[in-house]
Amino acid sequence: MFINFWYPAVTGAELTADKPIRVQMLGHWLVLFRDSAGVARCLADTCVHRGGALGLGRIRRGHVECPYHGWQFDGEGRCQAIPSLGPEARIPPRAKVDSYPVQEKYGLVFAFLGDLPEAQRPPLMPIPEYETPGWRANLIIFDIHCNYERSIENGLDPGHNEFVHPSQGFEGERADYRVPELEIEDQQWGSGFMSVFRGRERANLPTRTAMRTDAEGRFDPDVSAGTWHHGPAQMVTKIHMARTNWMHQYMFECPVDEDRVKVYLVNMRNCLLDEEKDAKVVERCLVVANQDIAVLEKMQPVTTPRSATLEILMPADGPIARYRQWLRGWTDRGWRLDIARIRSARAERDVVFAIPSPARATEKNWVLDPVPLVPGTGAPVAVQER
Ligand code: FES
Ligand SMILES: [Fe+2]
Repeated sequence: MFINFWYPAVTGAELTADKPIRVQMLGHWLVLFRDSAGVARCLADTCVHRGGALGLGRIRRGHVECPYHGWQFDGEGRCQAIPSLGPEARIPPRAKVDSYPVQEKYGLVFAFLGDLPEAQRPPLMPIPEYETPGWRANLIIFDIHCNYERSIENGLDPGHNEFVHPSQGFEGERADYRVPELEIEDQQWGSGFMSVFRGRERANLPTRTAMRTDAEGRFDPDVSAGTWHHGPAQMVTKIHMARTNWMHQYMFECPVDEDRVKVYLVNMRNCLLDEEKDAKVVERCLVVANQDIAVLEKMQPVTTPRSATLEILMPADGPIARYRQWLRGWTDRGWRLDIARIRSARAERDVVFAIPSPARATEKNWVLDPVPLVPGTGAPVAVQER
């Protein structure tokens, strides 16, 4: 898991002005709430008084109030009230918690979990089609009991469709099946591919006439699909069922911890635009997602193996190999959580860490230690330097 990226925390609709929401992200507890201007805010959840969970408290005058002794923290994470000191209280400067940048977009509330200054932050994956005429959006949310890297790698894996999704292949029955050669394309924050494919014609698919080959069995170049990842935990899968019949699935994934991921899928389509088709489209997306989930939740080891000798990659796994190169690049930058050190510290039961926030670059005097990170090498990010 990596700091210094945007992660989806909650939906905009569920974050009301009435109460905070406590969520776990990157193995850490965070609290989200709306301040008095209705702006979404995100703080570290651990109260620096004696460790109460802020997310279980309430909102007062636009501040989040700890349920234990009523300390109040504003959207910047600064303590604004310590009731036990009485109304004339002087608040000590150390009474602050980490506050993370937030942006609300695509119906979601994203938190930037890291300490990079604004100009250096990797951007959120954009959805150019969002609120564009001729496109329709649906938000679909699901939880997977798997490591988030396994989930992203599944999206970058053109070889699984044939076997995992009966509607997208032939379950290995065609003698001439193979994954076409892939051309991997690098973008600024990730890589991906677009590939022609052929699939079974299915009466219940929105594009029942589109997935086809011609009389000689050649691929229709208009029927294609591919996936690009953006950062470690976001990706878009583009499914072009015909020249003008497209579905673009933007997945913003939140690693809850090492073993669980929450997926916020913004499903964009430029066909079947009537609202009453939403339920059918969502149902279909969930059928496909559940086919993936059945495999993902049983994979071993839980995270990707620590050495390349512990599995056998094929050319069809090229996009996955490239994704791992990016992850190594971000590890070299010093952005990867050091899970082994976190685990051994937590085993002692007397420590809680905070994901460092941007204010840590300029302010000292924090109560909680920052989470241990794998030391960076200062090496350039291999893929980005290409
Ligand atoms: S632990 Fe939060 S106010 Fe005491
Ligand atoms: Fe899949």
